[in-house]
Amino acid sequence: MPDVAPAPAADAPPAATDLVLDLRGVVKRYREGDATRDVLKGADLAMERGLVGALVGRSGAGKSTLLNLVSGIDAPDAGTVAVDGVSLGDLSERERTLFRRRHVGFVFQFYNLVPTLTVAENVRFLLDLDGAPDAGPRARALLEEVELADRADAFPDRLSGGEQQRVAIARALAHDPGLVLADEPTGDLDARTGALILDLLERLTRERGRSLLMVTHDESILQRVDAVYRLADGTVVREAGGR
Ligand SMILES: Nc1ncnc2c1ncn2[C@@H]1O[C@H](COP(=O)(O)OP(=O)(O)OP(=O)(O)O)[C@@H](O)[C@H]1O
Ligand SMILES: [Mg+2]
Repeated sequence: MPDVAPAPAADAPPAATDLVLDLRGVVKRYREGDATRDVLKGADLAMERGLVGALVGRSGAGKSTLLNLVSGIDAPDAGTVAVDGVSLGDLSERERTLFRRRHVGFVFQFYNLVPTLTVAENVRFLLDLDGAPDAGPRARALLEEVELADRADAFPDRLSGGEQQRVAIARALAHDPGLVLADEPTGDLDARTGALILDLLERLTRERGRSLLMVTHDESILQRVDAVYRLADGTVVREAGGR
């Protein structure tokens, strides 16, 4: 396994901060031929621990771009991104990968399950990478929470979209990350299934006292979140959620 060496900075205890997410002056620039375009133009975003937040904005506003910076998949051209008190820019690429794996959970629009692994193997995937001795029982407990214990040995392609997303939620929470990121988690589901998925994602995150930031186009969700982060013209404006 390539990534077994400890990463001191990524494993350091979180700094004394109430913020699970702290973006300051973040600039992200894309090149298009000879031209460049700033998608994020000095964006600030602060999210307290334990919050459920929605990131909204029109298509192309830069929501996925911002999530990629938070997850450390991509780096900003200027500004800083801190997750749980750890400034991602201070980490090496390898440390960032480990940090992401241990401290962040992801739910995607199209589930992104590994097709060659069973449902249970998908859920315990990150735990196995980290050599967690209790990966089996933890995966089983999570599958019970998302009411899919009876499908543990099935492969993802046998499951409906909503079921696959429930597996993805179990996977995202398996390593107990401080922050869960979801990019349009209901975007591929019908309205009723989407609502159930959101209920589940929100409830399981809140029960654990963890934080959730989700990208959504669904304005009805804004009623149930603690904070709304509206992205427009490259900056973020925070509004109160309806909760
Ligand atoms: N790798 C890239 N190279 C060049 N431009 C990019 C790249 N990734 C994204 N962009 C551009 O940056 C802008 C923001 O894209 P992004 O995917 O973050 O938008 P979004 O808010 O998530 O939109 P949607 O709601 O449609 O998912 C878009 O104009 C997009 O074309
Ligand atoms: Mg997007």
